Amino acid sequence: MAVRFGVLGCSSVARRRSIPALVSHPDATLAAVASRDPEKAKAFAAEFGCDAAGYDELLTRDDIDAVYVPLPTALHVPWGLKVLAAGKHLLLEKPSATSAAGARELVRAATEQDLVLRENFTFLHHPQHATVARLLAEGRLGQLRSFSAAFCFPPLPAADIRYDAALGGGSLLDAGVYPIRAAQLLLGDDLTVVGSSLRVDGRTGVDVAGHALLVSAAGVLVDVKFGFEHTYGSSYTLWGSTARLTLDKAFTPAATWQPVLRIEEQDHTEEFVLATGHQFLGAVASFTAAVLAGRGAGHAEEAAGLRSMVRTMELVEDVVRLANRLPA
Ligand SMILES: NC(=O)c1ccc[n+]([C@@H]2O[C@H](COP(=O)([O-])OP(=O)(O)OC[C@H]3O[C@@H](n4cnc5c(N)ncnc54)[C@H](OP(=O)(O)O)[C@@H]3O)[C@@H](O)[C@H]2O)c1
Repeated sequence: MAVRFGVLGCSSVARRRSIPALVSHPDATLAAVASRDPEKAKAFAAEFGCDAAGYDELLTRDDIDAVYVPLPTALHVPWGLKVLAAGKHLLLEKPSATSAAGARELVRAATEQDLVLRENFTFLHHPQHATVARLLAEGRLGQLRSFSAAFCFPPLPAADIRYDAALGGGSLLDAGVYPIRAAQLLLGDDLTVVGSSLRVDGRTGVDVAGHALLVSAAGVLVDVKFGFEHTYGSSYTLWGSTARLTLDKAFTPAATWQPVLRIEEQDHTEEFVLATGHQFLGAVASFTAAVLAGRGAGHAEEAAGLRSMVRTMELVEDVVRLANRLPA
């Protein structure tokens, strides 16, 4: 039996990435999409061959098992809690919340209801990072000394939700969470933020760029950069005592992209061309597998992922608390 999905919000990422992946997966079907605007919902529904609904109406439907929520970030917790209260599994866009307390509230609700809760960090489902983790564990880089990661892209249209502080805008919540989550993935959740800067736009009040310095429990030095006032870049570098590994397009590779992993040593450089990966499809596959296996939020593996989700928000809060604020 396939997992029957509903979608709250006719959003850009839903249309371009998530729904095409969802409708192409054999374990998922799309029952309905909801919008604040009935005409928009109808047009979206016609595009994907499903029903149109309003947000609250969608949550009352008994032919929906799981709801995908690609709403502006500040709406993730209120609507996520409504989805869980309606007894439906929740695939929630990243970041899960605008605060660690909000992320904890979602985990509590999903655990109480024994429902699957996933934050849709699709890069976690690209196999390229498992290759990196294996090389690291095998000692290919010697002793790891530092991890640097960045996710930056050009300015967005002025009306974009990312420039609206009340909707949870800003480059830290939108882009900065990627390099932070990548540090958690490769170095563990036990990271400490030791300093940060945020470039804040005086007109909108949101940060449009920033960086943060962190340190891992093992003493690995971490630096992350993020922003939307740059040319596009998404990459990370792990620098060890004997070699340095760089992965480009680390967070948003197209499904057709063949990742190139570069290892530089004292006397030579190697490049490995890795297999392509469809990370949006991977995220849908992983979510539906958890639902079909009956793995609620209390299941050991689900709970581990949710601890990382909450930890991301704790680290984000520390970046904000310690930030040196500069006018952008
Ligand atoms: N996983 C990824 O790779 C990825 C990529 C991009 C974005 N995202 C995340 O996905 C979420 C949505 O991003 P997006 O770029 O798709 O945004 P978007 O195109 O602006 O979509 C947000 C949707 O939320 C609904 N909405 C409800 N209340 C709203 C309000 N007060 N103002 C504006 N929209 C409102 C709207 O749908 P209706 O008008 O139909 O109600 C709107 O289409 C964000 O949390 C973002 O971080 C994730």
